[in-house]
Formats: sequence, structure tokens, C-alpha cells
Amino acid sequence: MVPGIASLTPGLIWLRQAEPRQDRKVATVSHVLSHINHLVVKEVFLSISVILRKTMPYQVTATKYRPQTFDDLLGQEFVATTLKNSIQNKRIAHAYLLSGPRGVGKTSSARIIAKALNCVEGPTGTPCNQCDNCTSITNGYNSDVIEIDGASNTSINDIRVIQEEILYPPVHLRYKVYIIDEVHMLSKSAFNALLKTIEEPPAHVVFIFATTEINKVLATIRSRCQQFNLRLIPVDVIFQALVKILRENQVQFEEEAVKWIANEGKGSMRDAFTLMDQVVSFCDNDITMAKIISKLGLVGFERIAHIVMGIVEKDRKKIYLEYFSLLEGGISPEQIIIEMIKYFRNLMFIKADLTTNKFIGFNPAYYSEDIQKAFQYEDIENILELLFKSFDKSRFSADIQTEVEVCLLKLIQFEDFIRPKQILRELTHLKKQFDQSPGQTRQPQPVPTMNQPVMEKKN
Ligand SMILES: Nc1ncnc2c1ncn2[C@@H]1O[C@H](COP(=O)(O)OP(=O)(O)OP(=O)(O)O)[C@@H](O)[C@H]1O
Ligand SMILES: [Mg+2]
Ligand SMILES: [Zn+2]
Repeated sequence: MVPGIASLTPGLIWLRQAEPRQDRKVATVSHVLSHINHLVVKEVFLSISVILRKTMPYQVTATKYRPQTFDDLLGQEFVATTLKNSIQNKRIAHAYLLSGPRGVGKTSSARIIAKALNCVEGPTGTPCNQCDNCTSITNGYNSDVIEIDGASNTSINDIRVIQEEILYPPVHLRYKVYIIDEVHMLSKSAFNALLKTIEEPPAHVVFIFATTEINKVLATIRSRCQQFNLRLIPVDVIFQALVKILRENQVQFEEEAVKWIANEGKGSMRDAFTLMDQVVSFCDNDITMAKIISKLGLVGFERIAHIVMGIVEKDRKKIYLEYFSLLEGGISPEQIIIEMIKYFRNLMFIKADLTTNKFIGFNPAYYSEDIQKAFQYEDIENILELLFKSFDKSRFSADIQTEVEVCLLKLIQFEDFIRPKQILRELTHLKKQFDQSPGQTRQPQPVPTMNQPVMEKKN
């Protein structure tokens, strides 16, 4: 990269990672222009950056930032370290089975294993990513690393093709690697055929299976593989990754907005990256929560906090005015319920003093002292149950809007909700008291609950 480009054209940093060849073009042009007036250079570079931006293929963040080494795999330390060490120590299995939710690094891990086995310096725990073997695997054009989609090649014939192919040694690499994605989609007969193959494949063949549904993979297959379960990625890890990428690409952002994106990823790095791409594109390199709320038709927690305050104050007018204003703003009744669910979930964490980084998907400023004091744990549990029920019902309701209005009305009476569990607890408590003192009539003692005692609450 030419010194000074970063300060002249922030956009070029983004372009550079997307396409190294374009970067070289920029460098050459820069050299020629280095003798001309500084201002002219700046103008020219700005124009070149605009032209290149228009002509270059755009690469989504998830593809551009695919982990290339075990150390790049975020939030999967156990899997990464075990794989790295075992390959480093040349303990190489015939078959690996990678399971876990979507977008947490299964395919990425499979490709890193393929490189770790075949890097010219390998087998190694740290593939160089520079040699021809590594780069051809990264770019997906090495014929010895075969990626098969288990979802569309499910038949026994597909497995027979593999059985024939593995008899031939690899052409370019040390190991022929078969990566079979969504392996749980294979038919039963295909599974059985595979069983024989992975039991004792030729020494030059390694199978890597990936699945989001490990329970659907036959136990007989599982027992023949080294299994690795990739987990959901913690929100704070996703948040740090997003911040790093945004900074690298010189995109301005509000921390709260990035926290929201990280939280929406729900543990999937790919989902978070995809959402971030969408947000970056409509926020025009300056991500704010206000823009996200308006462009994605979200509610905004301060509006929900207003409704919740109305519930605390038992002020129906306040609740409905806010509710109707949200509807007028184009927010659907179901969306309001969803946002209320998120709000009360956060309130539950805040009350448990879990406002640390791991639970960063919310801003404690929207949860006033009054609100925190007004709701006990059991109230929150009852309210969430009611909200979930209303959401379920709203999907089949003849009149969703009224359904939600009734739900809001019910929420005002949150202190009077009694769950069967609470009645049972009360009865058990009473029974215990009478059992302890047979023949005596005693005043019942209040039931110890986290809330106010239920008996006292009733008018
Ligand atoms: N653990 C991770 N660390 C860093 N980036 C990750 C991680 N997991 C996923 N990603 C990002 O998400 C993209 C997709 O990941 P990958 O294809 O490995 O997911 P997957 O688990 O195979 O998902 P699926 O089940 O949908 O196939 C990667 O290119 C990368 O940008
Ligand atoms: Mg995958
Ligand atoms: Zn290499």
C-alpha cells in the first residue's frame, strides 16, 4: 500500500482487502503521480477510488473475513486447540465430524484442516496460507479437496462415486480431502455405504463431515469419526470482531448500534456479518441506532420503556397513545410484542446484575429505577409467558391488533397474575404447616416467594 493513501481515501482501505490486484494498480498510479502537486494527487486518487469502487466485484464480509488459521477461529478455542495440536503431532484421523449451529465456523474449520494437512510445511497446526497448496485450497480450485453438499448428493450412487474416486491417490496434495456438508441429509443406504468407506479408507484420504443436526447422524458413523462440537459464539466475541472490522474499514459507528447487531447474530458470526453488511450499506459508513431503527422498522427501546412505564403507572392512555403512534410509524403489532419480550428479558438480566459484557445487547439507560423496582422476578416470568402466548395466538388471530391491545391491557394487572405453580406452592406450604401441628388451628404464615406473598396481594 502506498503511504498516505489511508489518509487521502478511506474507501481504498476497504478496496485493498477486497482485491489485491486493484491495489497494485493503485500503487503504480500513485508512483507516477508522486511528483505532482499534492492537491492534484488527492483529487485524482479520490476519482480513482470512486471508479474502482464501481467496477470491482463486491465481497461480503463473511466471505472476506473467513478464518484462515485455527487461531482465527473465534469463540471455538477448545476445538481449534485440539485440532491444531493433534495435526501438529501428526495424529491424523480418517474422519472428522464437525457439528454445531449455522455460521459458527464448521466449513471454515474443514478448510483449515485441509490446509493444515496439505501445507508444504505440514502436516502442521499452523498452515502458512502462502504456498500453492494453501492458496489453491483457500480459493477453492484444488481438485484434491472435494466439497460435496450432502443435501443435494444424498443417494447411495453419490457415495459409490466417492468410493471409486478414493482409490486414486491425490494429484497435487499429500491428502485427498472430502468435505461433506450437511451430512445428516444423506439417505440411510448412503450412510451405510459410507460406513464401510470411512472405516478403513486408503491412507491418503481424509473425510471431514459437517452438520447442523448431529442427532440425525447415525451413531455408527459418529463412532468412526473424531467429533468436534462447535458452539454458539458469545455476543461479546462477535461484538469485538465487528468493531475490529468496522475500524479496519474506517466505518464510523455508535457502540450501542454494534451491540445491537452482535446480539441479533444470536451466536452466529455469519448472521452478524450479514446484518452488519446490510446496516453499513444503508447507514452510509456511519452506523447509528437511530438509522437502524428507522430503516429496519424497529421499535427502539425508549418507546418500549415508555409503554412499560405506562404499565407500572397503570396509565392506559399513556400505553395506548404510544402503541398507536408505533403502529402509525409502520411497526406491526407482532413486532411490538417481540420488542417487549426482548425488553423484559433484558430486565430479568439487569435485575440479576448481569450487565457485564456477555449480556451487552441492551442499554441499561432504558431501564429506570422505577421500572426495576416495580417488577419482581416472578412478575417478569409471568409477563414473558403472557407475551409469548399472545405472540403465538397473534399468528392465527382474526384480528392481531386487538389481540395485542388486550395483551397490553392484561399486562397492567401483572401483580395479580397467579400461575398454577404458585397456587401449588401455596397449598404445599399450608399443608406443611398443618402437618407440623396436628390438631391445632393456626394462622397461616405468608408463603416465602420472591414476590410479595400471593395471599396478601389479592384484594
Ligand atoms: N468461529 C468463527 N470465527 C470467525 N469467523 C467466523 C466463525 N464462524 C463463522 N465465521 C464467519 O462466518 C462465515 C461462515 O462460516 P462457516 O461457513 O464456517 O459457517 P458454518 O458453521 O459452516 O455454517 P453453516 O452451518 O451455515 O454451513 C465465515 O466465512 C466467517 O466470516
Ligand atoms: Mg458450512
Ligand atoms: Zn501452506
